[in-house]
Amino acid sequence: MSDSSGGRLRLGVNIDHVATVRNARGGAYPDPLRAARIAEEAGADGITAHLREDRRHISDADIDGLMEVLGIPLNFEMAATEEMQAIALRHTPHAVCIVPEKREEKTTEGGLEVAREENRLAHFIAPLRRAGCRVSIFIAADRRQVEAAHRIGAEVVELHTGAYCDAHAEGRVQDRDRELEALRDMATHAHGLGLEVHAGHGLTYDTVQPVAAMPEVRELNIGHFIIGEAIFRGLTPAIARMRRLMDEARA
Ligand code: PXP
Repeated sequence: MSDSSGGRLRLGVNIDHVATVRNARGGAYPDPLRAARIAEEAGADGITAHLREDRRHISDADIDGLMEVLGIPLNFEMAATEEMQAIALRHTPHAVCIVPEKREEKTTEGGLEVAREENRLAHFIAPLRRAGCRVSIFIAADRRQVEAAHRIGAEVVELHTGAYCDAHAEGRVQDRDRELEALRDMATHAHGLGLEVHAGHGLTYDTVQPVAAMPEVRELNIGHFIIGEAIFRGLTPAIARMRRLMDEARA
């Protein structure tokens, strides 16, 4: 069900980069599960974790642990591969977010090319939906992709905010405003089609508010900045400040 009529804007905290720091030494700490529990206590509405094909941050054991300990929904990010589909079907997390994945990229650089792969993706997500997972598709703010995501039967689209955040960081004001406008237009369009709208990637304290203010957006997924900020102020205050900025923008 899609609803922009009120409902608090949800914050999903992405804990991938706690695992990045852990894996830098190959040991057991910092523990992403501990971060997830702290995020839950700090008011996160969900936890997001991306199990990449190369397991560069989150591991299979992390996903097992999250499914066991979390009291809030897990948004399981994954590429559209058979291996990942089998893992998702074994765990049936609350949500599965399908993302593009390239081994050589530092992060998820663009949205999924749904329009070109409609048939394959429609077949790919059908068993996940039958198993009760909410299927979300991570896409650029592009009308073709929004409409294709709707046609394949996704319930949610997550709009990629990376281009907006990059333009902001680089002081490209016109590009930033154009990207924001595209996000606004596609949030409205997707919502009009009955899709639930989420957004994320690269959001910071400086960039979160214009996105949080979009009434159709129901959830933001934020990771790298929060985990980085936690080094300086601690995870609970880092999350609390993001939560406050989101609430202010919404009010
Ligand atoms: N949403 C999706 C679909 C993502 O792939 C990511 C990055 O893993 C995020 C949100 C969070 O992005 P960031 O870590 O830049 O906040």
